[in-house]
Amino acid sequence: MRIVLIGPPGAGKGTQARVLAGLLAVPAVSSGDLFRVEVRQGTELGRLVRRHTDTGELVPDELTTTVVTRRLGQPDAADGFLLDGFPRTVRQAELLAESLAGDGTALDAVIALGLPDDEIVRRLTGRRMCPACGTTVHLVFSPPRVANRCDGCGGGLVRRADDGEETVLRRLAVHSAQTVPLLRWYADRQLLCHVDGSGTVPEVSERMSAALAAVRR
Ligand code: AP5
Ligand code: MG
Repeated sequence: MRIVLIGPPGAGKGTQARVLAGLLAVPAVSSGDLFRVEVRQGTELGRLVRRHTDTGELVPDELTTTVVTRRLGQPDAADGFLLDGFPRTVRQAELLAESLAGDGTALDAVIALGLPDDEIVRRLTGRRMCPACGTTVHLVFSPPRVANRCDGCGGGLVRRADDGEETVLRRLAVHSAQTVPLLRWYADRQLLCHVDGSGTVPEVSERMSAALAAVRR
């Protein structure tokens, strides 16, 4: 299946993408993660995108689409993928549709994960991540076994550069202005289903699986 996961910052896209990708045996591809690898490695692309990611603005559409479609061209994504956080604008959605059509394929479903703003802020202020292996935890909802250490690889946990309060508020505003219009675009194409992102991780996974089962029927 070829699935897109859209949602405001902190809605749980990355957390759910990992669960669902495992169930569907397709790679989870996060545009944010692809950018963070470049930033960490100090590449020219990383220096370029950092100007946008650090302030919570979107990276330009053409550049983002090039990075993501290059990743989708790898063999593990040939039979399906779960996109986390891409597309984020109507222009990106158009470019993705063109690229898939060129390969004779198309999206199967777009899931919009929703969460109220106060819960978003709670989730993002408590998030910590492991730069070494990408594991994400929450200090209250899914705390690591050893304080400040990654359960997976033992690396030190850090706060994401864009998780400061001011940047979170900017990311929320950018989502409302530039990504919410995309929901209508996908609804018009009969691809959109809404899933409530509140509750525990397994509860949300259950809702997402049910939504996808309905699409498959
Ligand atoms: P990106 O990395 O995609 O950030 P985002 O969209 O702001 O979303 P997050 O990763 O912050 O949240 P999430 O929904 O993945 O939540 P998570 O699962 O971690 O993008 C970063 C930046 O890159 C953008 O601002 C932009 O600059 C650029 N960019 C990326 N894509 C782009 C694009 N397409 N176009 C242009 N620019 C782009 O969960 C959050 C926390 O909550 C975690 O601590 C987690 O453990 C916890 N949690 C999750 N689920 C639950 C639950 N059910 N109950 C309790 N806690 C939970
Ligand atoms: Mg994420």
